[in-house]
Amino acid sequence: MKLNTSFQLGPWPLSHRVVMPPLTRMRAGANGVPSPLAAVYYGQRATPGGLLIAEATQISRQGQGYPQTPGIYTEEHVRGWADVVKAVKEKGGKFVLQLWHVGRISHSSFQEGGKAPVAPSAIKPTGNAFTSTFSRVPYEVPHELALAEIQDIVADYRAAAEKALHAGFDGVEIHAANGYLLQQFLEDNANQRQDRYGGSIENRSRLLFEVLEAVSEVWPMDRIGVRLSPFSDVGDMADSNPQALYEYVIPHLSKKGIGYLHLIEPQVRAGLTGEINTNAPDSVCSLFRPFFSGPLIASGGFTAESAEEALNHGAADLVAFGRLFIANPDLPARLISGAELNAPNPKTFYGGGEAGYTDYPTL
Ligand SMILES: Cc1cc2nc3c(=O)[nH]c(=O)nc-3n(C[C@H](O)[C@H](O)[C@H](O)COP(=O)(O)O)c2cc1C
Repeated sequence: MKLNTSFQLGPWPLSHRVVMPPLTRMRAGANGVPSPLAAVYYGQRATPGGLLIAEATQISRQGQGYPQTPGIYTEEHVRGWADVVKAVKEKGGKFVLQLWHVGRISHSSFQEGGKAPVAPSAIKPTGNAFTSTFSRVPYEVPHELALAEIQDIVADYRAAAEKALHAGFDGVEIHAANGYLLQQFLEDNANQRQDRYGGSIENRSRLLFEVLEAVSEVWPMDRIGVRLSPFSDVGDMADSNPQALYEYVIPHLSKKGIGYLHLIEPQVRAGLTGEINTNAPDSVCSLFRPFFSGPLIASGGFTAESAEEALNHGAADLVAFGRLFIANPDLPARLISGAELNAPNPKTFYGGGEAGYTDYPTL
């Protein structure tokens, strides 16, 4: 199987092509410090030469939008993550941290002084936010970021990238997908600014590129991944011309020499509802592969069979399996041997303790 072949991902000699994508589990301890259980969970899923991408992790208090998600902006966060990193390294795994700012998807209960969440423009998404106490309420109208506040966020990304380095991670992934802050800047249904961060595609891409530059002052480019979800409507996202937008963004990332591009197939809405997004193309990996010369990770609804097909057709170099990795701690071995898979239980995806987290059986 192609899934069971080695691949050189930047500095990392991977021994197989099965990647664990970032998966929010809302089980961090007080103040967003990863719990000791997180070390068990990631350790169970690590394999020699296998790549794991840790769950989305807020770069600042302002960037948080869900209860009990982890942070990477205090020394306590660094110490908490260091224990998780150790568990993955002991198994010979490579471990990347996903850097996250949710923008308008946050709720005032997470913000200092109960202020409104921030966004490129004061446009409220449709749908419901999580509050800090796990209840669901309609999203609020966000505060339109001033230019100086945007620069503060870039600085927060740089500081968080530094903390990820101190925690011992192998690299970082910039989360510019799934309707969070960086995608809100990219797409024109959320970004209606008239300054140098809005309007043209070039302007709307500016924040992502500035964040990449800031993070690259800490990490070499080949240890930085970028995650995008073109054509996705998760988080109430839409763009008037996504094809043109991503045909601009992706070649730029390619020229910069980032370590990898991580794309989410939009047909299955982030794997969350299982509904089909009928406005989306069949495969964004096939669509955008010609615009990126580095390694590409595909994610979204893959099975062993469809992953083989994507790898054999060159649509991707590596394939990430989200819900299947939640339910199968030994997923690479199972996929490669064609063994039966445990079924994921969506009821235990978010919040809680060991149940549905560290108690899925191995073969
Ligand atoms: C419970 C859950 C949590 C997720 N959390 C994140 C996250 O933190 N960051 C992210 O970029 N994507 C997140 N996703 C999306 C997954 O990484 C993946 O792209 C999606 O589940 C589709 O892949 P799958 O069909 O193999 O599950 C999450 C998905 C699920 C089901």
